[in-house]
Amino acid sequence: MSWFDLSGKSLISETDWTKEEMDNVLRVAKQLKASYYSGDPTPVLEYKTMLMLFFSGSTRTRLSFEAAMTQLGGHSQFLAPGTMRLSLEEKPGAGESIKDTAKVMGRYGDGVGIRLLDDQIDYYGQGNEVMRKVAEHADIPVYNMASDVNHPCQSLTDMLTIQEKLGKAKGNKIVLTWAYSPWVRGRCSIQGTALISSMYGMDVVVAHPEEYDLDPDVTATCEQEAEKSGGSFEVSNDMDEALDGATIVFPRNWYTADRYEIGKEKELEIANKHQDWIYTGKKQKELCDPGYFLHCMPVDRGNEADHEVCDNELSWMYDQAENRLHSQKAVLATTMK
Ligand code: CP
Repeated sequence: MSWFDLSGKSLISETDWTKEEMDNVLRVAKQLKASYYSGDPTPVLEYKTMLMLFFSGSTRTRLSFEAAMTQLGGHSQFLAPGTMRLSLEEKPGAGESIKDTAKVMGRYGDGVGIRLLDDQIDYYGQGNEVMRKVAEHADIPVYNMASDVNHPCQSLTDMLTIQEKLGKAKGNKIVLTWAYSPWVRGRCSIQGTALISSMYGMDVVVAHPEEYDLDPDVTATCEQEAEKSGGSFEVSNDMDEALDGATIVFPRNWYTADRYEIGKEKELEIANKHQDWIYTGKKQKELCDPGYFLHCMPVDRGNEADHEVCDNELSWMYDQAENRLHSQKAVLATTMK
């Protein structure tokens, strides 16, 4: 198979693409990163436009996609839904429909990125539903820039970082642990990293207090992918036990399955019972081997992780943030062309 087969493909969930397709994109990401550091221009998307629709806030995703399009010779347009005609309500009188907005976007752009999650949705799964609807009508690739369920550009980046740092992912133990934060965060980054780590044959452990099960569909897919890849997938309700011998640790807050039924205040009450769920330098030294710190950022310092693990030599988070740029250039270059 050639990587050119990705032309026109959307990326909404990690499992939209096969492992082989992910491999090809990661290979392109490494080539584009090498070109960037060699000072060789890579204007493969000259005159192409990426439309970026941000319902929710962002630092890394917006910056990295904009820089990516610049480095590929194209242009990106930042779109704030509040300045447009679009309504997600889909009823007479509410505003312009998703279908009409998508059809028009397809006439101007060569790809659409969408971020839709957290307080901007009414129920779990809505972010992905809207993205799939845009993809159905836009006739150009749609990129999930973070939804309530998945964050494929982040998880591809995590895999790029793991491969760069360790040579290969397979056989390494990665612990994705719930961590306390009053931010009441979505599940997309954890679920995305769980999916891609399972696809790549890692020994994946998801640790969380009892209330914080991941989406059962995601868990079932991780189990199937781990079986196919020769990795393993386990769930633990004991953080210290899970950290035992961990090569990589990703500590991240996420909300319960009932987030959109019970509201944020009730979520916070539940989270407040588990303030001891924090990844610390002490746990890293005493339990892990060596416990490299993986984090999609923004990190809630002092809650999800202490300053020591954020800043010591085992922290990968800034290199990981940089890699968003190179992995997304690969996604854009292989799908828009
Ligand atoms: N990791 C990530 O998506 O960061 P932002 O929310 O800042 O875009």
